[in-house]
Amino acid sequence: MSTPSPTVAPATGRLGVLTVGLGAVASTLIAGVELAKRGLGAPIGSLAQMDTIRLGKRTDNRNPMIKDFVPLARLEDIVWGAWDPFPDDAYVAATRAGVLESGKHLEAISDTLREIRPMKAAFERNYVKNIDAENIMGKISKREMLNAIRADINKFRDEKKVDRVVMIWCASTEIFIEPGPQHQNLEAFEKAIDANDPMIAPSMLYAYAAILEGVPFANGAPNLAVDTPVLRQLATERKVAISGKDFKTGQTLMKTVLAPMLKARVLGLSGWYSTNILGNRDGEVLDDPDNFKTKEESKLGVLEDILQPSLFPELYGNVYHSVKINYYPPRGDNKEGWDNIDIFGWLGYPMQIKVNFLCRDSILAAPLALDLVLFMDLAQRAGLGGIQEWLSFYYKSPQVAPGLHPEHDLFVQLAKLKNTLRWMMNEDQITHLGREYYDEA
Ligand SMILES: NC(=O)c1ccc[n+]([C@@H]2O[C@H](COP(=O)([O-])OP(=O)(O)OC[C@H]3O[C@@H](n4cnc5c(N)ncnc54)[C@H](O)[C@@H]3O)[C@@H](O)[C@H]2O)c1
Repeated sequence: MSTPSPTVAPATGRLGVLTVGLGAVASTLIAGVELAKRGLGAPIGSLAQMDTIRLGKRTDNRNPMIKDFVPLARLEDIVWGAWDPFPDDAYVAATRAGVLESGKHLEAISDTLREIRPMKAAFERNYVKNIDAENIMGKISKREMLNAIRADINKFRDEKKVDRVVMIWCASTEIFIEPGPQHQNLEAFEKAIDANDPMIAPSMLYAYAAILEGVPFANGAPNLAVDTPVLRQLATERKVAISGKDFKTGQTLMKTVLAPMLKARVLGLSGWYSTNILGNRDGEVLDDPDNFKTKEESKLGVLEDILQPSLFPELYGNVYHSVKINYYPPRGDNKEGWDNIDIFGWLGYPMQIKVNFLCRDSILAAPLALDLVLFMDLAQRAGLGGIQEWLSFYYKSPQVAPGLHPEHDLFVQLAKLKNTLRWMMNEDQITHLGREYYDEA
């Protein structure tokens, strides 16, 4: 039995977008949207802005743009706000990040970017050791931080006169924390906040504040943030959309295309060695082993989930998988990734695949952040609270209901995303069965 389609409220009024962190990804996102608003740049990589969706049969020729098919907020209606421990406005942040060319892309929108000044961050150095900056709420308790974030959200809502707000974590990757007893239910979580328990990271306070204020929360980094039993349950109860974790850009994007190919052709895998050089602030933060551990967990899980070694022990039961990120300042945001993949085929004969991806981290991440903001707002208007699994397409480590294994295959994720949009708008699902083209003859 199919679930009835929801009623989607229209995207009237202004959409406030609050980015936690105003670094490379957030400033590239903001600058790109501001350029696109003025027709000075194309939002390439954004499905919400540039992709079409097929409706009905292949012979129907109905392929509207996604943005014309579902009621999305218009770019013109987006208003920005941010928190960051560095006091730099969005113009300075974008210049420092060095992703976009100043003359070509920043000067034309400099006035708008300069107006976006970060609010004081809920920040503690224990969670991001390689950042030392002054624009922070100070040494206050976790309870006070939570209240201050909530007050910031409301002030932003009032001052900017926005009708809806979405929050997206574009801040540094925090140190590795596993869900513990503090994260199991509201009583324990509240108690841990009052006790300033180190298991309550700033990202969890932002996520909690967002849910309490009815603001959808998307998590672009691998730290837990909203991925705990307590916040998952609260978001479901309060019908607030949540999703995560960790934008799927560069190397993992390639991995989630290549590994399903091996699996589809039942080719074996003996080893996958991935290494990267990266010179931006994210690379610097990830140079600390405790912060890298969070990223490593997010990157390592992918192969196992895709290849299902328990079902295919002969092919995938003994895979050596290694992922490294090396901080190398001369490259800035222009990451270079290498993959050496040792595979085997017919009768066990070995073969190799080499991938060398010279990518631009934030150029790949910005369109994902834009789509997440627009689709999370859509989900909220459609009354879809809790985990938005249909947005797995954007994440390295998709958040799913307990007991489910995440779907990593990029094209399965794409089908899930588009079928969800069709379902929301009461259109037929596309199953690719295709009998109708032959049975009618
Ligand atoms: N660019 C990509 O391709 C990509 C892919 C996947 C995930 N990510 C993740 O996205 C995040 C952002 O990446 P980036 O390249 O913009 O990094 P960045 O270092 O340029 O920006 C992160 C910003 O977050 C700020 N910050 C840290 N703790 C904060 C807090 N508690 N509150 C508010 N701000 C805080 C930092 O001061 C910094 O300015 C990182 O966690 C990164 O791992 C990026």
